[in-house]
Amino acid sequence: MQKKFYITTPIYYVNDKPHIGHAYATLLADVLARWHKMKGENTWFLAGTDEHGAKIAEAAQKHNQAPQEFTDEISALFRETWKNLNIVSSDFIRTTENRHKVSVSAFMSALKDKGYIYEGTYEGLYCTSCERFYTEKELTPEGQCPDHKRKPETIREKNYFFKLKSFLPEIIKDIEEGRMKIYPKKRYNEVLSMLEQELTDISVSREHVKWGIPLPFDTNQTIYVWVEALQNYISALGYDPDEKKQDKKFTAYWPADIQIIGKDIAKFHCIFWPALLKAMDLPVPKKFIITGFFTVDGQKMSKTIGNVIDPNVLLKDFGVDGTRYLILSQFPVGEDGDIKASGFHVKYNADLADTLGNLCSRVANMIHLYSGGKVSVENMSAGKWEEKYEQAMNNDNVFEALAEIFSKARELNREINEVKPWEKAKRDKESVIPFLQNWAARIAGLGYELQPFLPTAGRTIHEQFQSGAPQKKLILFPKITVK
Ligand code: MSP
Repeated sequence: MQKKFYITTPIYYVNDKPHIGHAYATLLADVLARWHKMKGENTWFLAGTDEHGAKIAEAAQKHNQAPQEFTDEISALFRETWKNLNIVSSDFIRTTENRHKVSVSAFMSALKDKGYIYEGTYEGLYCTSCERFYTEKELTPEGQCPDHKRKPETIREKNYFFKLKSFLPEIIKDIEEGRMKIYPKKRYNEVLSMLEQELTDISVSREHVKWGIPLPFDTNQTIYVWVEALQNYISALGYDPDEKKQDKKFTAYWPADIQIIGKDIAKFHCIFWPALLKAMDLPVPKKFIITGFFTVDGQKMSKTIGNVIDPNVLLKDFGVDGTRYLILSQFPVGEDGDIKASGFHVKYNADLADTLGNLCSRVANMIHLYSGGKVSVENMSAGKWEEKYEQAMNNDNVFEALAEIFSKARELNREINEVKPWEKAKRDKESVIPFLQNWAARIAGLGYELQPFLPTAGRTIHEQFQSGAPQKKLILFPKITVK
């Protein structure tokens, strides 16, 4: 039977336009989805936007817009940006869509019917920017939210609670026994240590937040935005708690094979989410890949500092594949890292123009000079994956896999410099042909491997060299003059 592969990204808040951190996580999912598709798996890739809650309502108000109008605009911007980056998701879910509201309402009613919801009063310190409560201990010495440096509000209201605590021992077992994998190891340890702390049941509704999905059994309340947002991963598959109404898509794809999330949202995904799923007798995700945080020139990206990198601006300078490369080649998956915005041109020129681009154009050119524009690459190994690359990809180490391709490209360039075919050709043109055949085949192989990362350039390189007759002037990545 054909293997299935379901991968998701976090759904992004639509309070502001997408930045390079969002693009990174989504590109990572795109690369893995493309890879699994190439392996012949039945792949489903979900992306989307998170549109309810006080934070979004606040942002809409600041722009003097109604929340729906505001979220329509920003959500479209995310979708557009992914399209510009040649990110091809199978579906894009917005939490303001009816299909999401219907699925979530049914989920919440079923949760209540199963006895996992109870009424209580909540008093706590709430940070609207995070859309979460904090304990005093978690705040900075000045009493502020550590992420947003803003003083949380004290909120006291009637809420409904979910019996989270009953599911914690099972979740610990699932993690420890590898049924729900968490990468990298550092984050695995962090999640387990969060689970060892005294966790309380979570509130699943808000009395004073109006911009949200009404709680089906008490419409004076809306569903807590996180509880609702997490469900996008199944609402998009048409999940219905009533077996008889279950969507085929849900049966085909759930549980997710990989959920990509950021380190700041690990608690919601690795603890709250599996608990909600367990309460509904649903399987938990097979694996979480937890990405780190990008800083830019040593600082957190922020509008006030003015260091937010907009992927659409990079696209203008470096093109689609160039931008994909620059974002994906920054750091190993899961690491934090600092991006030097001024280094993009240097990296583009060194890796794409001078290494990969130059390799392709010089070999194409030599095929025309010494072999009449064609060599035979039949029976060569092109189109097969190198073991190291394949292993890295199968371990979701897209950074290593990409680096491996470029190290092979550098190796080939060195080999050409050593062989000096231009000198050989002066004596005997024919003697160069076997070298050209071998190089063309190897470049075709690299093109093949590049496809999940640089879909257009990868395909072009593969096709041009696999045919043995690349075009004479093959300029894939024109050099950029550093401004
Ligand atoms: N809406 C929630 C997620 C709900 S998922 C059911 C949310 N949205 S977010 O837009 O604030 O962040 C989405 C993702 O972007 C998170 O995984 C977060 O880690 C990631 N990033 C936000 N800033 C980032 C960087 N500076 N660098 C890398 N990724 C970062 O949280």
